[in-house]
Amino acid sequence: MSTIQDKVVIITGASSGIGEATAKELASKGAKLVLAARREDRLKKLQDEIQAIGGQATFKVTDVTSRQQMEELATHALEKFGKIDVLVNNAGIMPQAFLAENKVDEWDKMIDVNIKGVLYAIAAIVPSMRERKSGHVINLSSIAGHNIYPGGTVYCGTKFAVRAISEGLRQEEAMNGTNIRVTNVSPGAVTSELLETTTDPAMKAGLDEVYQVAIDADSIARTIAFAIEQPSDVAINELIVRPTVQVV
Ligand SMILES: NC(=O)c1ccc[n+]([C@@H]2O[C@H](COP(=O)([O-])OP(=O)(O)OC[C@H]3O[C@@H](n4cnc5c(N)ncnc54)[C@H](OP(=O)(O)O)[C@@H]3O)[C@@H](O)[C@H]2O)c1
Repeated sequence: MSTIQDKVVIITGASSGIGEATAKELASKGAKLVLAARREDRLKKLQDEIQAIGGQATFKVTDVTSRQQMEELATHALEKFGKIDVLVNNAGIMPQAFLAENKVDEWDKMIDVNIKGVLYAIAAIVPSMRERKSGHVINLSSIAGHNIYPGGTVYCGTKFAVRAISEGLRQEEAMNGTNIRVTNVSPGAVTSELLETTTDPAMKAGLDEVYQVAIDADSIARTIAFAIEQPSDVAINELIVRPTVQVV
């Protein structure tokens, strides 16, 4: 039996792409899913699909930029399943543009979703893991959390921040003996709806070109399952997953 069986897993950004694929992968291995995102119709459809294959899933419409909604998500998970084993901090947006374009509203949104969303989830969900002395936080950073490129400056900044949060959380939980594992996942180009969040036409065209080699979201879902299914004394801390032919 997989060690994923009966684990309660919250996934933010579960309504598409990597989050949706991860929900399906973990459901097939017996996890109990708590699906979160803003689009209710997508969450409902995913819940139905999981239940149709005999899996267990609940959903809560959640905007990760709201501390209150994040706390309500944690409460929902605890009420439905009695514990939270894994948090997959996956919700993210990537409206890329050169700094000179001054898309300040998009900078704000990226910081709110990609950084504050991750922190709000940690604030709402990790305390119950500390109490149980058991848990696993999986944060979606990116290759953009390792490399900086023109047009990606603010997005890269948010993904560098996610890596810093992952490593800081890892060190603090290890120091305090809470038994909480932390995994930072850095995908390369993956097919999803993420490129649709880039509004700048020239930038979008360039990204479409780069994403010609993109791999399926399932590839990242399998990687996340691999990190979860290790024995509890083994923490996979860093994962970089690119298409084989992606150069940088
Ligand atoms: N695709 C790639 O090439 C790639 C590479 C490296 C890293 N990543 C990272 O992987 C993660 C998942 O991205 P993806 O590729 O799967 O993109 P995606 O298909 O666009 O999925 C993004 C998810 O985030 C959710 N989301 C956005 N804003 C939200 C908010 N305010 N509150 C709650 N949920 C929100 C969306 O749901 P709603 O709109 O329904 O809320 C959606 O489910 C992101 O953190 C991304 O940065 C992706």
